[in-house]
Amino acid sequence: MEVLEAIKTRRSTRSFADQPLEPVILEAIEEAFFHSPSASNSQESHVVIVQDAARIRTIKRFAQGLSGTPAAIIVLCSNPKEALARGGIDSEEVLRFVNMGVAASHIMLTAQSLGVASCPARSFHQRSIAEIVGLPDEISRSC
Ligand SMILES: Cc1cc2nc3c(=O)[nH]c(=O)nc-3n(C[C@H](O)[C@H](O)[C@H](O)COP(=O)(O)O)c2cc1C
Repeated sequence: MEVLEAIKTRRSTRSFADQPLEPVILEAIEEAFFHSPSASNSQESHVVIVQDAARIRTIKRFAQGLSGTPAAIIVLCSNPKEALARGGIDSEEVLRFVNMGVAASHIMLTAQSLGVASCPARSFHQRSIAEIVGLPDEISRSC
């Protein structure tokens, strides 16, 4: 699927097939993330891909914005210390959030191009999700 076609056909999806993601899809999502640009090339964004059904159920208890039962939840986060050290104060305060948005877009459009729907979700309890997926302190403290 061409990029513009993926952009035009993507819609936030809130109900999902009960079907795991094939490894090739997960690999493509990882590649999309790793090839996302970041301001000053600071690369302070990190990603955790959760596929375990029990953990997805737990995450959903702390994520009111997350509808349906997706095959995977992709937790995007960023390390403010890395942003400051590599990109300066602007990266720490603003650009790391822009960088996460760019990465999210890359991931959603890659998934869409491979026939996999998604929904961005911002309504969740950040500290709970950080704890459930085991984010290091220096990342979860910034939540
Ligand atoms: C930053 C951001 C946060 C969002 N958070 C949520 C959310 O918590 N729950 C949800 O169901 N949709 C969420 N959405 C999806 C928007 O509601 C959706 O993108 C918008 O209504 C446009 O619909 P479309 O994505 O189908 O074009 C979010 C979208 C963005 C960009």
